Amino acid sequence: MQLEENKSLKSLNTFGIDAFAKYFVEINTIADAQTFFAEKKFDPEKKLILGGGSNLLFTKNYDGLVVKNSIEGIEITKEDDNHVWLKAKAGTIWHQLVLYAVANNWGGIENLSLIPGLCGAAPMQNIGAYGVELKDVFISLEALNLESNQIQIFNHADCEFGYRESVFKNKFKNQFLIVSITLKLNKKPVYNISYGAIQTTLEHNGIMEPTVKSISDAVIQIRSSKLPNPAELGNAGSFFKNPEIPKQQYEQLQLQYPLLPSYKGSIPNHVKIPAGWLIEQCGWKGKQIGHTGSHKYQALVLVNYGNATGDEIYKLAQDIIASVKEKFGVELTPEVNLV
Ligand code: FAD
Ligand code: EPU
Repeated sequence: MQLEENKSLKSLNTFGIDAFAKYFVEINTIADAQTFFAEKKFDPEKKLILGGGSNLLFTKNYDGLVVKNSIEGIEITKEDDNHVWLKAKAGTIWHQLVLYAVANNWGGIENLSLIPGLCGAAPMQNIGAYGVELKDVFISLEALNLESNQIQIFNHADCEFGYRESVFKNKFKNQFLIVSITLKLNKKPVYNISYGAIQTTLEHNGIMEPTVKSISDAVIQIRSSKLPNPAELGNAGSFFKNPEIPKQQYEQLQLQYPLLPSYKGSIPNHVKIPAGWLIEQCGWKGKQIGHTGSHKYQALVLVNYGNATGDEIYKLAQDIIASVKEKFGVELTPEVNLV
C-alpha cells in the first residue's frame, strides 16, 4: 500500500482521460484499508473509490483521494443440491467471475458476460444486460464505512436497486468501499434467452439446447459486434440511461414517430425507450466532433478518438441532451458517473 501524489489516471479509466488525482492509494486487503483509514490523515479530503474505471468520466482533475480497490478472490460460502452461494471480493474482474460460473455450469450471470469492470462496482448501478440484472442473483454485500471504519452488511432490500441505480449511486455515494458481494447461482439453470439477439445468435451457432456456456458465448458474440472495445477506442459503454416516460407521452410521440421502439420499464404506467434511437434520429450517430463522437454502431456510446478531455466529452453529452430534448421533449440523464 503506497500513497502517491499527483497521479495520472489515464490508464485507470476506459475513456482514457488524462486526469490527475491529488492523492492516490491502492488497497489490496480489507485490513490494509482499515489501517489506512484509521490514520485519519485523509479525513478532510473528498474521496473517490475506483474500480476498473469503466463507468466514469473525469471532467477535471480529482482534488482529493482516489482509492483504487484491488481486493481480489472468489470463494463458495454455501452450497446445496440446487444452488451455490459465491462470494467475490470487490477487486475481482467481473467477467472472471462470470467465466468461473460458466465453467461450473452455474446459471444466473451468463447474460452479464463481458461487462467490463470489477465486482465491487456491480451493485453500484445494478449492472444489467440482455434481460438480467445483478439484483436477480444478489444476496448481500460487505462494505467498509469510510467514516466509522467498520464493515457493514447490506442485504438486498438495503441496496435499493433500480434500473442502473442503487443506494451507493445516490445517498451513500463515496461513503462506502464495497469489499465483497455474495450471489446465489443456480445449479439447475433456468435460461433467459428471449431478449434481443440471443435466440437468433444461438440458432446461427447451431445450438438447439442452450447451456450456460452457449448463452455466455452468444452474449459475448453480440456485444463484440456492436460495442467498441475500450482497449481500442476510449468509452464507458452507454453514456445515458434509456429514459422511462409516461405511457401517455409515449402514445403522443408515437403519433409523430410511428417507428419509436419501446420496452417494458421498471416504473408503473411508464415505458422505456432506447436513448440510442433518439440520439440517432437527432443525427449524432457516427458523427465526430473534435476528438469526441457518438459511436458509428451504437449511438448511445460516446467515444474518445484519442486526445479528448473529459470536459469535451461532457460538452458533447450536454449538446446531445439539448437536441434530444428539443426534438422529442425527452430528458436524457447520464448513466456514467461524472467526476
Ligand atoms: P468504476 O468505473 O471504477 O466505478 C463506477 C462507480 O462505482 C464510481 O462511482 C465508483 O466510485 C463506484 N465504485 C467502484 N467500485 C466501488 C467499490 N468497490 N465500492 C464503492 N463504490 C465503488 N454496464 C452495465 O450495467 N451493462 C452493460 O452492458 C455495460 N456494458 C459496458 C460496455 C462497455 C464497453 C463499457 C466500457 C462499460 C459498460 N458498462 C455496462 C458500464 C460498466 O462496465 C459497469 O458499470 C461496471 O460495473 C463498472 O465497473 P468498474 O469497476 O469499472 O467501476
Ligand atoms: N438503437 C438505435 N440506434 C443505435 C442504438 C440503438 O436505433 O445506434 C435502438 C434500436 O432500436 C435497438 C435498441 O435501441 O434495437 C436497443 O439497442 P441495444 O440492444 O444496443 O441496447 P441499448 O438499449 O442501447 C442497453 C443497455 C446496455 C446493455 C444492452 C443489452 C442501457 C443504458 N444500456 O443498451 O448496457 O448492454 O441494453 O442489454 O440500459 C451500459 O449500461 O453501459 C450498457 C452497454
